[in-house]
Amino acid sequence: MKKVTCTAPVNIAVIKYWGKRNEELILPINSSLSVTLHQDQLKTTTSVAASREFTEDRIWLNGKEENINHPRLQSCLREIRRLARKRRNDGGDENVSRILNYKVHLCSVNNFPTAAGLASSAAGYACLVYTLAKLYGVEGELSEIARQGSGSACRSMYGGFVQWVMGEKDDGKDSLAKQVEPESHWPELRVLILVATAEKKHVGSTAGMQTSVETSPLLKLRADLVVPERMEAMIESIRKKDFDAFGQLTMKDSNQFHATCLDTYPPIFYLNNVSQRVISMVHQYNTYYGQTKVAYSFDAGPNAVIFMLEPTVNEFVEVVKLCFPPETNGDQYLKGLPVGPSTLSEGL
Ligand code: DP6
Repeated sequence: MKKVTCTAPVNIAVIKYWGKRNEELILPINSSLSVTLHQDQLKTTTSVAASREFTEDRIWLNGKEENINHPRLQSCLREIRRLARKRRNDGGDENVSRILNYKVHLCSVNNFPTAAGLASSAAGYACLVYTLAKLYGVEGELSEIARQGSGSACRSMYGGFVQWVMGEKDDGKDSLAKQVEPESHWPELRVLILVATAEKKHVGSTAGMQTSVETSPLLKLRADLVVPERMEAMIESIRKKDFDAFGQLTMKDSNQFHATCLDTYPPIFYLNNVSQRVISMVHQYNTYYGQTKVAYSFDAGPNAVIFMLEPTVNEFVEVVKLCFPPETNGDQYLKGLPVGPSTLSEGL
């Protein structure tokens, strides 16, 4: 039996991906950009075992067996095995030949709420693809395969600041993730996560964005006119470490993503009243200082991701505690996370 264990980090998009032009290959209607978090805190850990004793491929997520025949899982397994076969045929490792004839058992756990809008599928599929690649000794560009598990997963294949370039080709060969700046580039950047609820989201990203593509005129406008220009400005703000610009662009992009959700018919509501109070709190704090000191971003759920620079963390956490006193905050909790070094790592 051969066994491999790897971990992969979560990423948070500051230019959001929402909408596909090809459902099967997972090709987006716009490019996106994210920050990969430090994987000491939020991560997926996946183990894979290959054995001649196994009679079928199987997978367990957070301790519960799931259907291995899910088309996206099958795409990832098929593509990695195809690369492994190619490597073997090109005269690669003899052991790979043997393992390729075995079935695999996969086991994956998140150390954070699954499907509560905390990018669990991103870390999950990135980890699955990376772990399988290690098992079969496959190297090289893997974001194209991770993308076929979940679009946002391709960005978790790199640390630091990562762009998913939408690409133009119909076969998706140019729809890849690439690192804009490494994790070492902006070491003062910090992320705080405010968990408004750990409940599973009502409308999943895949179904939600499909309805948005079908019904929201705003989404098309966003993809064609807003994102290309905003992407350039975002990359420049990161290169210059200009937090004011970075923060404003991040908040505007999150707001526009949620506006497209409202423009979807029937509308999709991911933010709740706690999220709205967090948004007001952030703007009040910035108004007090007369500059953008903190910036929020929300994915497909009510939990807030707040970006700031290190010197702001302690004071802002106090402000959060004042606005959301412990006795009323129920299941809300905070995590202070450095931005991620986060290359995927093997062998726990
Ligand atoms: C709001 O990557 O989960 O988090 O490709 O259908 O699996 P699928 O969708 P997914 O969508 C993520 C949407 C988002 C924004 C983002 O991460 O860019």
